[in-house]
Amino acid sequence: MKQAIISFNNVMKSYDDDVPVLKNISFDIEEGKFYTLLGPSGCGKTTILRMIAGFSEPTKGDIYFEGKRINKVPANKRQVNTVFQDYALFPHMNVFDNIAFGLKMRHLPKEQIETKVKEALKMVRLDGYEKRGINEMSGGQKQRVAIARAIVNEPKILLLDEPLSALDHKLRTDMQYELRELQRRLGITFIFVTHDQEEALAMSDEIFVLNNGSIVQSGTPVDIYDEPINHYVADFIGESNIVDGTMIADELVEFVGHQFACVDGGMRPNEPVEVVLRPEDLTLTSVEAGKLKVKVDTQLFRGVHYEIICYDEAGNEWMIHSTHKAVPGQEYGLNFEPEDIHVMRFNESEEDFDARLESYED
Ligand SMILES: Nc1ncnc2c1ncn2[C@@H]1O[C@H](COP(=O)(O)OP(=O)(O)O)[C@@H](O)[C@H]1O
Ligand SMILES: [Mg+2]
Repeated sequence: MKQAIISFNNVMKSYDDDVPVLKNISFDIEEGKFYTLLGPSGCGKTTILRMIAGFSEPTKGDIYFEGKRINKVPANKRQVNTVFQDYALFPHMNVFDNIAFGLKMRHLPKEQIETKVKEALKMVRLDGYEKRGINEMSGGQKQRVAIARAIVNEPKILLLDEPLSALDHKLRTDMQYELRELQRRLGITFIFVTHDQEEALAMSDEIFVLNNGSIVQSGTPVDIYDEPINHYVADFIGESNIVDGTMIADELVEFVGHQFACVDGGMRPNEPVEVVLRPEDLTLTSVEAGKLKVKVDTQLFRGVHYEIICYDEAGNEWMIHSTHKAVPGQEYGLNFEPEDIHVMRFNESEEDFDARLESYED
């Protein structure tokens, strides 16, 4: 890996000697990628952003920018800009003055300011809106002004704290594409915060999944979706069926009273485990052809697929996504392939998980 642009080294944060809101956070952020901090409200996402921006200091541990310790470097000396959830625009100023604000503070020549503001507006597709008052703009437009105001300063890192959460669904999806595209064009590092897993999967090069002040798992969207390290991640990222099981031996797992071939291994013989099967990996067939017998309870049409809820003989609930209809009340066979079965250990750390996967796959 090339030198990280931002590194956290065992960063801990607590307020008033209380329980820490961040516990031993360590990570490296590479230049030019789109990162997402993903986790539920209160898990510490904003606290991490505030530390990168220089609005808050770690209680313990160190933060580095391009290899230099920056714990005490004030916000205005960092090459970082933030887009806030509530936009934080100046309501009495027009679009131009909002975007030009930082440049004027730096006493740039007038013509240069004009050129830069025009470029920034073009980037966010608001050319010609210079004279508009902020209060005459829609939520989505205000969000773009906030983004333009941040990128006009040419930061090395752009921090975005839940910038889309106030927008309605359609606009939000459009803005996801635009932000991703903007990051590619600018080539600068984006650190994006969201509690929305779909948004994180769609936009990121790398995701850090947070829970309760710790990073639980980090990796590409595909890594995290396909290989969740534990129940929390499997449940938080996408829809999951999770049942208890026993790892009989490598590539043989037991759940719901039957043994199935799988592709996981490296556990102790007969180790208790949890088993994840994604709804899109499950199919319904005849009872005789199925690996498990299930009875369909309900079915909802979701546009692209039917969402079918059924129960096995042990009473476990299974969610299936299928383009075929099922009949509620009827019995079916449930089918899946060995590679669709994902086995998780209890309390495995990310390091142990990575090491096990590596040694087992060799
Ligand atoms: N200034 C503060 N004083 C005390 N507690 C705080 C302060 N700022 C944040 N917290 C607490 O830190 C935790 C993490 O907050 P935050 O980083 O804002 O979470 P998130 O952005 O993931 O919702 C929360 O429990 C919050 O109440
Ligand atoms: Mg927050």
